[in-house]
Amino acid sequence: MRMYDLIEKKKMGEALTTEEIYHIVNGYTHDEIPDYQMSALLMAIYFKGMDVRERYDLTMAMRDSGDILDLSSIDGVKIDKHSTGGVGDKVTLVLGPIIASIGVPVAKMSGRGLGHTGGTIDKLEAFPGFNGALSEEQFVNQVNNIKIAVTGQSKNLAPADKKLYALRDVTATVDEISLITGSIMSKKLAAGTDAIVLDVTVGDGAFMKNKESALELAKSMVDIGKRADKKIAAVLTNMDEPLGFAVGNNLEVIEAIEALNGNGPEDLMEVVYELGSQMIVFSEIETDKAKARKLMEEAVANGKAFDKFIEFIGAQGGDVSYAKDIKNFKPAKYVIPVEADIDGYVHALKAETFGLASMSLGGGRETFEDVIDMSVGIVLNKKVGDEVKKGEPICFVHANDEAKAKHAIEMIKGATVVSPEKCDHMKLIIDIVE
Ligand code: URA
Repeated sequence: MRMYDLIEKKKMGEALTTEEIYHIVNGYTHDEIPDYQMSALLMAIYFKGMDVRERYDLTMAMRDSGDILDLSSIDGVKIDKHSTGGVGDKVTLVLGPIIASIGVPVAKMSGRGLGHTGGTIDKLEAFPGFNGALSEEQFVNQVNNIKIAVTGQSKNLAPADKKLYALRDVTATVDEISLITGSIMSKKLAAGTDAIVLDVTVGDGAFMKNKESALELAKSMVDIGKRADKKIAAVLTNMDEPLGFAVGNNLEVIEAIEALNGNGPEDLMEVVYELGSQMIVFSEIETDKAKARKLMEEAVANGKAFDKFIEFIGAQGGDVSYAKDIKNFKPAKYVIPVEADIDGYVHALKAETFGLASMSLGGGRETFEDVIDMSVGIVLNKKVGDEVKKGEPICFVHANDEAKAKHAIEMIKGATVVSPEKCDHMKLIIDIVE
């Protein structure tokens, strides 16, 4: 099989066979196919796409390029949750302990933050001592013992994706539905759970900027999950403004702790309850989504969800005194308000720029080598649709460096729209694909 012929075939819009797709994925993973040929093929796929059978083969070939976790020794229906990325997204921190406290086994592999979006493992490291790199045995044992474990992606999980993603990133071929589907679903299938709930974010701070493209991606991933015999659903959620009020590592963890104690922002809790009720139904603990949501609300109200959070942080070596008393988190040196220039209503808080502003304060990474400043970020005082008076803070910038704060404030001002006309609050749940 010659790579030249396969590039030519895809360039003419023909479908690649299962054998050809495995040949390409294996060859590229093992350095037998050079970057220049793989780049040409990626660009051909970008323009000609892949049909559903090709997408499935691509996903399976990428899944099979490395380890596949065996979670069969965990009792019950194991469930994973995945977000396509957002700003202020602390959903896993709140959702995981709630449903684990109801008895749903949560075996979650999470990533680190890159660019304007944060990563769950980085946020959990706000608890000194937290171990986000469990061995497979530790991971399985912990889910069996306390129903929840969250660990970073093991090095040999879908190695084809690591190489391919890096190449896509520098060849302008990231935003193609078949390639995104293969990338995300290969990792989800290698993580070995029985069910997957996808949070497909839509809007300014998301990968998918409009509903049409998000829906296409959601349908594509759900289709591949079903072909692979998984229970799977996708929820399209709004990411035009940051989720909740806090953006930045410690600040988001504090907001998650408050949410688990019953004081969560409405938009965050809406996403948590929608995804969580779907996960509970997949777990077969409850068959009705409305009843599942009630179980979740009860777990927050009676303190079981917060107790589970403490147990989970402690089990992975984290200092739980921080969760019990948020004053233990070291605050940033400066807390600076960003005020409204006129009376009116908030029309936009562009999520991507808020994420980039938090990153520029030191709260995120441009490359995987960057070290994160845990205490910096932004806390909103207003959300889209809220009324605001001239001089009232729209948000507060938490910074450790005056020059960086000044730069972040400029960015935030450029991403905030206040105008005299009334404006609706944002609708959080945009669509559901099952
Ligand atoms: N996230 C992934 O893991 N892969 C993609 O291709 C896009 C988003």
